[in-house]
Amino acid sequence: MKFRKLAALGVTAAAALGIFGAVTAQDALSGDLEIFSWWTGGGEAAGLEALIASFTETNPGVNIINSAVAGGSGVNARAVLTTRMLGGDPPDTFQVHAGAELNDLWVRAGLMEPLNDIFEANGWMEQYPQGLLDLISDDAGNIYSVPVNIHRSNVLWYVPGNLEEWGVTVPANWSEFVDTTCPALQAAGVTPLAVGENWTQAHLWESVALAELGVDGYNGLWSGATSWTSPEAVGVWETFGQVLACSNDDRNALSWQDASRQVADGEAAFNIMGDWAAGYFLVDLALEPGTGFSWAASPGTDGTFMMLSDTFGLPVGAPNATNVRAWLTFLGSAEAQDIFNPLKGSLPANTTADIGNAELYNAYFQDAYADWTGNAIVGSQAHGAVASPAFTNGFSGIIASYGADGDASSAAANTATLALQTGIGG
Ligand code: GAL
Repeated sequence: MKFRKLAALGVTAAAALGIFGAVTAQDALSGDLEIFSWWTGGGEAAGLEALIASFTETNPGVNIINSAVAGGSGVNARAVLTTRMLGGDPPDTFQVHAGAELNDLWVRAGLMEPLNDIFEANGWMEQYPQGLLDLISDDAGNIYSVPVNIHRSNVLWYVPGNLEEWGVTVPANWSEFVDTTCPALQAAGVTPLAVGENWTQAHLWESVALAELGVDGYNGLWSGATSWTSPEAVGVWETFGQVLACSNDDRNALSWQDASRQVADGEAAFNIMGDWAAGYFLVDLALEPGTGFSWAASPGTDGTFMMLSDTFGLPVGAPNATNVRAWLTFLGSAEAQDIFNPLKGSLPANTTADIGNAELYNAYFQDAYADWTGNAIVGSQAHGAVASPAFTNGFSGIIASYGADGDASSAAANTATLALQTGIGG
C-alpha cells in the first residue's frame, strides 16, 4: 500500500516536473491508421501530408497508411471504397462529403459509428455552423463524420491580364458569355471555357442550373418543388449545351487540373471549378492570387455560395478505431484546419480557426470567407451535399448522353426518371 502511494506520488511529481516530457494520452497510441481519400496530387496531397506530419509528431507510435486513390472528385476512390466496405474490409477512416453522400449511403446502411462524444468533448457543437452539423447528422442527432473544410463549387477562374489582352471582361451571366464573350474569344483563337472529364461537366451543370433557376428553383430540384421536366429545367440543359459549345472538344480526355492549367497557360480564358483549383494555382503552379489567377462567382450566381464539405468518418469494424478517434479529434481542431486549408484552397469549417490571419489565408480565402458568411448558401450535387451517390452515378450517364446527342428534352426527362428512381425530391 505504502509503495503504491509512493509510486503514484512519484508519477505525479515526475509528470509535474516534466520528467516524462509532454506526456499525453495520445503518446501511448500505436499500431496502424489507414487513411483513405482521393487526394493524390498538388495542394490536395500537400494538405493531407501536412496533416499527417503534424499528427505523427504528436503520435510517433502510429504508423500512417495513406491509401489515397487517384481520380478527381473521388470517381475511382468511391468504387474501391464500396468494394472494401461491403467486403468487410473497411479502411480505418475515409473521405466522404457531408450531406447525402454520407447519409444516404453509409449511414443508412448502418456502416458508420456515431462521433457525438468527440464533438461534445471538444466543444465543437458550438464551433461548427449548425447547417453543417445538420449535414453530418441523422434525424436522431447522431453525428457521423468530422468536417475538415468548406469548399465552394460555383467559382469562375481566369487570369486578369489575359482577359485584358483579349479584350473581354468577366461575364455577369450565361447569356452574356454565350452571346458576347464566347464569340470574341473564339475570334481571338482562344478556348472560351476549359472543361474536363465527365464529373467536371456535371460540376459545370450545377453552376448553370443555379444561375438559370435561382436559389429557390435550384433547391427545389432536390426538395421536389421544381419539376425536372419544367420549361425552366429543360432550359438549363439548353443553356448548358450552348456553354459546352464554347468549350474544348477534347474535354472527356482532360482532368480538372488539365482544364485549370489551360487557363493559367493562356490557352483558355475561363474554367469553372471548385476552389481546390485555388490550391492547384497556389501550390502546384505557385501563382499569385489576383494576378496569376483570379476568380468570380460563376456567371449568374453572384450572391450565392454553393458549398460542399470534405469530412472523415469512422466505419463500423475499422481495425484501429482508437487511432481513428485521435485522428478525428485532431482533424476537427482549429489547429489542423489552419494547417490543411491554406494548401487545399478551402475554408476552415471550424469557426475558431484563424481565418482572419491574412498571412495564412490570402486574398482568395478572404473573399471566399466573406461570401461564405454573407451569401445565400446552397449545396452541391456533384460533390454529395444534396444528392445521393445513386443519383450522382446515374446523372453522369445522362451528362455523357447529352454530350453525345445534345438533346435537352430527353436529358430533362431522363433526369426526372432518375430522380424518381433514386428518391430525389420525394
Ligand atoms: C471534390 C472534393 C475536393 C477535391 C475535388 C477534386 O469532390 O471535395 O476536396 O478533392 O473533388 O478532386
